[in-house]
Amino acid sequence: MARIVYHGHSCFSLEDNTYHIIIDPFLSGNPTAEVEPSDLQPTHILVTHGHGDHLGDTLELAQANKALIIAPNELARYCQSKGAQVHPMHIGGSYAFPFGRVKLTQAWHGSAIINDGNIIYTGCPCGFIIHFNSKIIYHAGDTGLFGDMRLIGEYNKLDYALLPIGDNYVMGPEDGVRAAQMLQAKLTIPMHYNTFPVIAQDPEDFVSELQKVSLKGLVMKPGQVVEF
Ligand code: NI
Ligand code: MN
Repeated sequence: MARIVYHGHSCFSLEDNTYHIIIDPFLSGNPTAEVEPSDLQPTHILVTHGHGDHLGDTLELAQANKALIIAPNELARYCQSKGAQVHPMHIGGSYAFPFGRVKLTQAWHGSAIINDGNIIYTGCPCGFIIHFNSKIIYHAGDTGLFGDMRLIGEYNKLDYALLPIGDNYVMGPEDGVRAAQMLQAKLTIPMHYNTFPVIAQDPEDFVSELQKVSLKGLVMKPGQVVEF
């Protein structure tokens, strides 16, 4: 039995009896997170880009659990310089990890660690196509809409599409519906909304819009689990 757990913002866990893959573990300082980093024991940490609301607690979680960080090369090298074990990858590349294959997709966004005007560039941001327990999960990362999502949908029979809908920094709900139409996942789950006032959205409304184009959506509350 495997499961997806939502932790708020863009953070999801994929778990089975052996592996715990956490994506974009922004928990400390995330007003919507239902767990503390110390509650989780990930084996692998996937990070889409260097922004604080995605890199989040990655370094602390990696150190506490000897977890392997999988990220775009520049971001992975940054984490390595802080003592973490990393597996650097880049856009279009895939690799078969013990839990399943991971492929990096493009994401139209920025990627840097920003501290008081000090900016450390961390390469291109990415999304992830993850094969796990016979399911295919697409986590889009932070991105605007792009037409190559159609290719991602054509080449991957997606079970789950995790799509940002917060607008301002990423796709808004309207573009999210267009993305979902191109991806044709069996289930579309919105993310990256309502964490901060500037990304306030009505996710139930997004799911209703999906229904109008014959797509199934699910609003996951932080802590909610989908088993598969
Ligand atoms: Ni970002
Ligand atoms: Mn973000």
